Amino acid sequence: MAISFFAKNKKGVLNRCRDDYATKMRLKYAPYYLAMESQKDTTVRLDGRDMIMLSSNDYLGLSFHPKVIEAANAATRKWGTSTNGARSSNGSRTFHVELEEKLATFLGQEACHIHSAGYLSVMTSMATFAQKGDVIFADKNLHSCLWDGIQISRATVERFSHNSPDDLREVIASSNSDAAKLLVVEGVYSMEGHIARLPELTEIAEEYGCFTVLDDAHGFGVLGRQGRGTVDHFGLNDKIDLMCGSLSKSLASTGGYVAGTRDVIEYLRTNSKQTIFSAAISPAQAAAAMAALEIMQSEPQHLERLWANTKKYKAILKNLGLNTWESETPAVPIVLGSKERVYPFWKNLLDKGVFTVMSIAPAVPAGKDLVRTAISAMHTDEQLEKIGEAMAFAVKKL
Ligand SMILES: Cc1ncc(COP(=O)(O)O)c(C=O)c1O
Repeated sequence: MAISFFAKNKKGVLNRCRDDYATKMRLKYAPYYLAMESQKDTTVRLDGRDMIMLSSNDYLGLSFHPKVIEAANAATRKWGTSTNGARSSNGSRTFHVELEEKLATFLGQEACHIHSAGYLSVMTSMATFAQKGDVIFADKNLHSCLWDGIQISRATVERFSHNSPDDLREVIASSNSDAAKLLVVEGVYSMEGHIARLPELTEIAEEYGCFTVLDDAHGFGVLGRQGRGTVDHFGLNDKIDLMCGSLSKSLASTGGYVAGTRDVIEYLRTNSKQTIFSAAISPAQAAAAMAALEIMQSEPQHLERLWANTKKYKAILKNLGLNTWESETPAVPIVLGSKERVYPFWKNLLDKGVFTVMSIAPAVPAGKDLVRTAISAMHTDEQLEKIGEAMAFAVKKL
């Protein structure tokens, strides 16, 4: 009797996997998990054809910088391929501490902790610091890692309209005034390309005594002096309690960081399960990020080129009448409004040799179905021209 009961439950999960509609559609149209056969700079090879990569987060184009590659290789030779353990136990190395100190200084913070994925760093920024009984005020369009962290924290969550200080004020004013409060926003919203309205948002947070968390995965390397990020862009360093982000975008690596005061970071090291029980970032990843961080400070041309490319690219899209959701950054969505319009647009770009990523509701708000594109400092003028031709073709076919 007991055995058949368990067998039935197991079958329930297997049936769920077999019958899942979203999986069936994904496999039918195969727009995701496309495995590239090779890559050099912004050129990737897919199904035997060279394509221009137009949706990478390698904003500064440092993934193929010779100094970054050499640093990763040298670290592997010196330290091996893995740390084989958590920082809290056997996995801590001097290069972790060095990178944390350099990142903290760069960000104008006292201390920093790095993880093996940006997702972990960002998720733990909510999961560790919020707890049951607290109230979190969250922008409606946050990345899924922040929502996961919010859920783990078991705090109450109050959503406010995307990037709207007015709505935040209304929501916060009507909330439980005794609870500990947190505000969570992104510096640059990865799908929309919007810059957070930090001056107004942090003013409200200050008024109501919120602990303010900022995920700057897409602002780091892109905004501020030498790419110090969104907080530096606005000169608001003393208004943010916790900054987190990713090493997999402008820092040309894989991993994440959390930065704040020493007290806050030491609290994280004691209380964050995602920190205590997950293996430390590998030597090659840490070394790549460290080299990229140095290059950001010594070679300003990458940031300059990124913004010059972004300007040219946006002019191309504007001439074609495309809706870019008022993106203010190199993360540029092309909003088409429905999956029926997004799929052929994406496919036509692919057929013309331009690789982009589709994002459809519920990953984006209903009616905002889009093709996500992102500009890199590595895109050449010739590539931008080809991208323009492909876009014109896709627009004509709409
Ligand atoms: C806003 C934001 N936060 C965090 C992450 C997670 O970073 P990673 O991909 O390095 O794990 C991402 C990744 O896309 C992101 O867009």
